[in-house]
Order: sequence, then C-alpha cells, then structure tokens
Amino acid sequence: MNAQKRIAHLCGFVDEDRLWRRHMELAQIGALPSGGVNRQALSAEDIDARHLLIGWARMRGYRIETDAIANLYIRRAGRYDDRPTVATGSHIDTQPLGGRFDGAYGVLAGIEVLESLDDAGIETDHPITVVAWTNEEGSRFAPGAMGSLIFSGLRRVDEFSANADAEGTTLSAALKSTLDAMDTDRQLDTRPTFKAYIEAHIEQGPVLEARRIDIGAVTGIQGTRWFEVEVNGRSAHAGTTPMSKRADAITAAIDIMTDLRRIAEDPEDRLRFTMGRVDVVPNSPNTIPEQVRFTIDMRHPEQQVLEDRTRAIVARCTGPSGGCRVSIREVLTQPPCDFPEAIVARVENAANALPASCMRLPSGAFHDALFVARICPTGMIFVPCRDGISHNPTEYAEPAHLAAGARVLAATLVGLAEKDA
Ligand code: HGY
Ligand code: MN
Ligand code: MN
Repeated sequence: MNAQKRIAHLCGFVDEDRLWRRHMELAQIGALPSGGVNRQALSAEDIDARHLLIGWARMRGYRIETDAIANLYIRRAGRYDDRPTVATGSHIDTQPLGGRFDGAYGVLAGIEVLESLDDAGIETDHPITVVAWTNEEGSRFAPGAMGSLIFSGLRRVDEFSANADAEGTTLSAALKSTLDAMDTDRQLDTRPTFKAYIEAHIEQGPVLEARRIDIGAVTGIQGTRWFEVEVNGRSAHAGTTPMSKRADAITAAIDIMTDLRRIAEDPEDRLRFTMGRVDVVPNSPNTIPEQVRFTIDMRHPEQQVLEDRTRAIVARCTGPSGGCRVSIREVLTQPPCDFPEAIVARVENAANALPASCMRLPSGAFHDALFVARICPTGMIFVPCRDGISHNPTEYAEPAHLAAGARVLAATLVGLAEKDA
C-alpha cells in the first residue's frame, strides 16, 4: 500500500464519535454548573483526569511515563523502537472558568491517532508519544506552560517548588501528591528525545470560523510577558485618617494602571495587554488598603516591541508612587517563535490531501509548542471554535472539525514517523 493509500486507510479509522465522547467524559472532571470546566493544575481533578487517560492507555498496552514536573507521556511503540519518538499532545489543566476543548483537544486527538493506528493495523517506524503537559494555564501556579518550559531545559522544577497557590499549597506539595497518585511504568530522569512535535488545538480566536476554513496550519506563536506588580502603602482607619495623610495602595494602583494602559496603546491593535488579577490586603471596606498586587499579561509578535514596552512598564512600576512603594517582578518571558517551513508545509499538505480547507495563521495564544519548538521541529494544527471564544465556559467546537483536525494530525504524525522522513 503506498503512503497516500495508507494515510487514507488510517484516516478512515479516526472515529468522530469516540473523540467527541471522550471530550464529554473528560469534561465531567471539574465540570461547572455553567457547562464549563475548572480543572486546576496538580489538583484532585487533574489527578482524576490523568487516571482517565492512563486507564485508556493501559487498555491499549501503551507505555506510560512521567517526569519530575509530572508531564505524562503515553507512548505507542514503533518498528524501530529505540529511535527518537514523534510527539504530540497539549494540556488537561484549564482556566478557573475554562472550556471543554482548550488543551483537552490536543491530548484527546493524539490518543485518537494512536488508537486509529491500532485499529488500522498500522505500525510506524518511529514510536509516537502523546504528552499531557503539566500546568499550561498557570492560573493556580505561575508561570504558565511550566511543564514544557521545564522539559525545554530553560528552567528547573526547584525554581518553582516554593510557589504557592491562593490557599497556600506549594507547587512541590501538589506535585508530590500528583506523582504519588499516578500509576506509571517509570519516572524519566532525562528528557525523552523528540524527532518532531505537532500540537492540535482549538484556535481560540475568530479567524478560521469567519473564513469558513476547517484547518489552520499555524506559522508561529507571538511572544508573551507576565509581570506581578506590588503596591505597598499603610493600612489605617477609613473614618479618622485625613485624605492628606494616607498611603492608600488602591488609589496609587489606579494611577499606575491608568498610566500602564497609556503605555499599552497601539494604533495597529496588535499589542495585547491584560491586567487580569487584583488582590487587595486587607480587602476591608473600612480600612485603607495596605497592599495591592496585580498581574500583567502582555503579548506581541515582535520581540523589539515587547522589550520596548517592558522597559516603560518596569520604569512606571518601580519606586515611590502616590505615597506608596511599588515593585514589579517578571514571572514569564516567552519570546515569539516561528515554526519551521517544512513542518508548516507538512500540515498544509496533509489538510489538502484529506481534503480539508486550510490556511496559514499565527497563534495569539501561547501553547506548550512554544517551548518544545526550542528542542525539535515543531508545528501546530488549529481547528475553529465558535465565535472564537475560549477561556470561557461557552467554548465550543464542532465534532466534525475536531475529527478533521485529528485526521490531519494522524497524517502529519505518520509522515514524520517514517524512518527516512
Ligand atoms: O494564555 C494562553 O495563551 C494559553 O491559552 N494558556
Ligand atoms: Mn491551551
Ligand atoms: Mn488556555
């Protein structure tokens, strides 16, 4: 059977219903009354989700491994099993008011490809591994994309061990509970060698749906910077303290945030700037606030723009302001990345061969692929999501689009898993 016939044979085994059922089953873990999902990294819900994936993998006899940051590797053997694995995957942790498809799709599409290969009776030269990366969202423990960041070797687990969540649980405690709870074949102490990595994901934006295109061949990911700003004043009585004698952290923070919005202005509307979390201490109506901490998430496709705006932000958030003391910490630095043309072309060709409509586009959201791209040839496949909405319980993707993306993923992975590819 020639390669083209083999791919067509394989794609016939990608099962749209099975893929959809698994999304709905996984979405039950951390399900919200609103229909969305809250499955925080390294939480009891995350552990239950890992048990679900491991259960499916066990039934197929795949090898199950993990590492020091609890990334989960589900590996289907290849004819030449000692060769570097071709990899795919994404994340199963979600935003606090997250959707059923962000991250989950990339993991479930990867498992669908492995099972379709079994069902089609196809043996690949190289092994193929599906990865569930730990803590991509970063909403419980900053920074985001932590599992892939550590996999890339840029940072180490112990640099984040003491990071605590809002309840005071440290990353190291949550990590230990997760590692202890998982039934894996072994914990890797060195990074597995990837030949290539392809991640499937919902677009989380409006472009594909607006253009009625089924598949996005992703060209790259814009850069992201996260900061934490701390404004320290002095708590005092709201009724007795003259306005002229206050070190009010909220009024100082309001002036800073107003100036930051001016720094973030962009007539081309390409810069993304979000102050998404604000914590106030003591957060009491009749006490002048002593401390405000807030986050900044800034993104842009050009590194120079990120650097220039970072300088202005840091300058504004350092030193005295409004009678308070201000400091800033950069907690996530992700430079923009372009995917190799050869990989983008493989995704495009696989879509065209299905056939499925396909266009090239960059990613506004970051993904684990951003850090894996520093280790091996990497690319992404997007499928449309309704109204481009994500990080929201109403996030939705059509079963047919999810299956089409899984077929393009299958064709791309099998092509890469050829020994002379
Ligand atoms: O924030 C992001 O871009 C990703 O969806 N976590
Ligand atoms: Mn995601
Ligand atoms: Mn996300």
